Amino acid sequence: MMVLGLETSCDETGIAIYDSERGLLGDALYSQVDMHAVYGGVIPELASRDHIRKTLPMIRQLLADKNIAATSIDGIAYTAGPGLIGALLVGAALGRSLAMAWNVPAVGVHHMEGHLLAPMLEANPPEFPFVALLVSGGHTQLVAVKGIGEYTLLGESLDDAAGEAFDKVAKMLGLNYPGGPRVAALATQGTPGRFVFPRPMTNRPGLDFSFSGLKTFVRNTLADLEGAPEGISEQDKADVALAFEEAVVQTLVIKCRRALQDSGLRRLIIAGGVSANTRLRAGLEAMVQAQRSQLFYAQPRFCTDNGAMIAYAGCQRLLAGQREGLAINARPRWPMDTLPSLKSLSGV
Ligand code: KG4
Ligand code: ZN
Repeated sequence: MMVLGLETSCDETGIAIYDSERGLLGDALYSQVDMHAVYGGVIPELASRDHIRKTLPMIRQLLADKNIAATSIDGIAYTAGPGLIGALLVGAALGRSLAMAWNVPAVGVHHMEGHLLAPMLEANPPEFPFVALLVSGGHTQLVAVKGIGEYTLLGESLDDAAGEAFDKVAKMLGLNYPGGPRVAALATQGTPGRFVFPRPMTNRPGLDFSFSGLKTFVRNTLADLEGAPEGISEQDKADVALAFEEAVVQTLVIKCRRALQDSGLRRLIIAGGVSANTRLRAGLEAMVQAQRSQLFYAQPRFCTDNGAMIAYAGCQRLLAGQREGLAINARPRWPMDTLPSLKSLSGV
């Protein structure tokens, strides 16, 4: 089955074609980062308008580049939520309409399920069951995954998501959006051990997270440095960036270790934009080795938003018989544990 996937939930237009027999046949990504950077963050209305401009021409281009006829597409998958409602509606309206015009089935995909399944696109995909750490701009969740659509939430952030904390700290450091990669780059110049920030909620049981206190800690540290007679230096900022990144990474490592131990599972996957972070990957790699477990993640371009993960997730659901009605639906909020399991769809 050959599936066209569309991702338009935020500030990236992602298009991909995934084939159940041959794998990923092609993908294209257009990032709106430069457009939003002027404002220091995503402006939803501008995002929607840009998706309208880009999505259809990108589909045409990808089909032409890969020499794939529209008539050979067997199904369409689009991100139906969670995300910015206007941006989601562009992909949902276009995906649903194309499916009707081409007389093929359509399926609305959950954006975080797309992220969660992105490591499946790699050469050595994980087998079920596993623990998933989802770390993006809007979500920080630990999930026990028995199969597609069989998700048990183990813990989540009570306030800011990990990516959101990176983005806010970036702003405090005078770095532009998206902040995660910029904070990570600045941290490579940092002096190890100069500052040690708290690892929130690690000294009590449970698998929930909280990153807003850490953010305040950064703000106070920066205020102290700025108030010093000699002012704040570039080295000071790099040292703060490193201490912040280490605190986030260590917190995530401690909670992932606990999730593996509590669940008795031996595989950990990480997904979402923050899973592209090299310090996080290294920290988790060391932890899983000590736990005699395995770590899986997608290549960096499939950690952040992309069409390939939506085409893959949609393909699995279409193969199991899931079908969207004719209505065009998008859900800005959508708990992942309400998704039907593949097992229940195929009646196994
Ligand atoms: O998954 P994603 O592309 O979009 C959402 O679904 O939110 O994640 C974007 C988030 C942003 O907060 C961005 O700053 C963060 O992922 N991010 C990173 C890195 N690359 C992206 N955070 C830390 N280190 C990175 N290398
Ligand atoms: Zn995302």
